[in-house]
Amino acid sequence: MEIVLSGIRSTGHLHLGNYYGALRNYIKMQDNYNCFFFIADLHSLTTHPHPDDFHSGVRTILAEYLASGLDPEKSAIFVQSDVPEISELYVLLNMISYKGELERTTSFKDKVRQNPDNVNAGLLTYPVLMAADILIHRANLVPVGKDQEQHLEVARVLARRFNSFYNTEVFPEPKAFNFGDDLVKVPGLDGSGKMGKSEGNGVYLCDDETTIRKKVMKAVTDAGPTEPNSTMPEAVANLFTLLNIVSSKDTVDHFKESYNNCTIRYGDLKKQLAEDICKQTLPIKAKIEQIYNDEEYLKRVVKRGTEQARESASATLKEVRRAVGFRSFLGFDDK
Ligand code: TRP
Repeated sequence: MEIVLSGIRSTGHLHLGNYYGALRNYIKMQDNYNCFFFIADLHSLTTHPHPDDFHSGVRTILAEYLASGLDPEKSAIFVQSDVPEISELYVLLNMISYKGELERTTSFKDKVRQNPDNVNAGLLTYPVLMAADILIHRANLVPVGKDQEQHLEVARVLARRFNSFYNTEVFPEPKAFNFGDDLVKVPGLDGSGKMGKSEGNGVYLCDDETTIRKKVMKAVTDAGPTEPNSTMPEAVANLFTLLNIVSSKDTVDHFKESYNNCTIRYGDLKKQLAEDICKQTLPIKAKIEQIYNDEEYLKRVVKRGTEQARESASATLKEVRRAVGFRSFLGFDDK
């Protein structure tokens, strides 16, 4: 069975974009692949979260993962920092990663521009750690969004380079898993672009009804169509995209028709959209709260996921250490 792996940083909360763009597909993949899903807490350290908030960030994403439908009976669900093999592989991969190629990644250049005072080495080697996440499980398929494609290319380059450098075939080259037509791009509520964690234009799975309503009612629109069947401006088209995702076909058709004959009232559309978003997310929100507070359950899930992850990771690392030439005096490389 092919191995699937994906992770998400433990910053903030999951929003509709994460849910419809990614999570729903992870959930579908659980039945057909050997899946690893994890929380990238080491990656989140690049922005120096306060130690007092660090654990709750991890716990939040974990609860949101599980409430959305990731199933610990089907997938290994774990926290990156609980699998020390990842960090060891990261060190080894760093030795065959070059400053120039890492400096060229778009995400690094963006971060340097956004935060010139925090250009730490972890930021530069972010893609190396991500490669370690993937290669430690010898994953074949990595379901990620477009923004991660360059990082995946780094992982492929490092897999190839390691194999040829050490004359081994330990690493397969991971591919981005593309959901094809199933991949929904979820737009934000601010008129243009996609919903993003840092854009402040999102509806979160943990938002309550009042918040959702407020956000949707404030969404950008225009003055309304003046001619029948006119093309929609992006802001309005985005609301229709959201409607398409959460509402019934009848509802979508109804508002399309009223747009086309110029009788549409955006207030009505937004009210309906808010209601239909709530229908989808409020049950998840309730589960998030329940799971977040169920310490015993979280412990059980992570214990099991970590055992699976470490078993897979240590098997890889053993081959890697052999290939590099380690022969521990303490017998670490025996057996
Ligand atoms: N870099 C990814 C993001 O920001 C998160 C991530 C870390 C990841 N390690 C990974 C994704 C390994 C897929 C595979 O979204």
